[in-house]
Amino acid sequence: MSAGKRDSTAPAAKGRPVTLSHLGEKKQLGEPIAMVTAYDYPSAQVAEAAGVDVVLVGDSAAMTVLGYPSTVPVSLDEMLMLAAAVRRGLSTPFLVGDLPFGSYEVSNEQAVATAQRFIKEAGCDAVKLERGGSSVERAAAIVAAGIPVMGHVGLTPQTATALGGYRSQGRTAERALEVARDALALEQAGCFSIVFEAVPADFTDAVMPHLGVPVIGIGAGPATDGQVLVFHDLLGIYDGHAARFVKRYAEVREAMVAGVRAFADDVRERRYPEPEHGYTMAPDEAARLRELLEERPAAHEPFSGSW
Ligand code: KIV
Repeated sequence: MSAGKRDSTAPAAKGRPVTLSHLGEKKQLGEPIAMVTAYDYPSAQVAEAAGVDVVLVGDSAAMTVLGYPSTVPVSLDEMLMLAAAVRRGLSTPFLVGDLPFGSYEVSNEQAVATAQRFIKEAGCDAVKLERGGSSVERAAAIVAAGIPVMGHVGLTPQTATALGGYRSQGRTAERALEVARDALALEQAGCFSIVFEAVPADFTDAVMPHLGVPVIGIGAGPATDGQVLVFHDLLGIYDGHAARFVKRYAEVREAMVAGVRAFADDVRERRYPEPEHGYTMAPDEAARLRELLEERPAAHEPFSGSW
């Protein structure tokens, strides 16, 4: 490995903040980009310690941490609160905030104002938006305002209803061409990276040679420049339906349930707390306290105000 290569890669492992140029260099060098979602301070600290390159405060937070049935209901203020918490737990990976449904579609002005809040109030490095079509113009407007934008094509959960549900996209040549056109248009609009979600590996193989920016896949096969998974999916925290592309790397929910159950059992059986979990008082202070309490009127007597 050359010195130049060492310098341009793995900034995450060295604790230097990951930049847009690092991500571009990784693509050029053929080094896969690792991206994960995070939604709060502890998950950000985990992503930081694990040395990933990019962290996305995804609107998947709607389902994974806020309990909504889809990504649609999450509000801008909810997303900003989560993104700000992630920022506080993160110093090295590149931080992307997901623009929630309804916060950028109406006009370029709305899109820029929303993106600015992610940068200014939550400390994100960039924002992500979904779809091609009118989102291409929104992406261009945000880029023109000086904010890096990540695109997202294929299965776009914010508009899953219009796509016929949560199903893979681009399985016919015609539909695949539409998705490819969206990706190319987003690149033209200035997006620094594009997410491909739930598209056939054949689609990715065919389209990758036409794109110059890093492509991050989720259910898009191995040919992308990087991969992203949802934190709660990969760690086995989320209990809902998992998509086919999810690989579980841990079963954290089981460990969490077992831990909380053991605590509740210990409380009920009076096994917790033990002496080492408490604080002590010097014996003479404890004796003095007892004396003072003796001087106090009995509980059933009216309080005179003198104690
Ligand atoms: O919201 C999210 O978590 C996402 C990723 C799946 C890319 O958009």
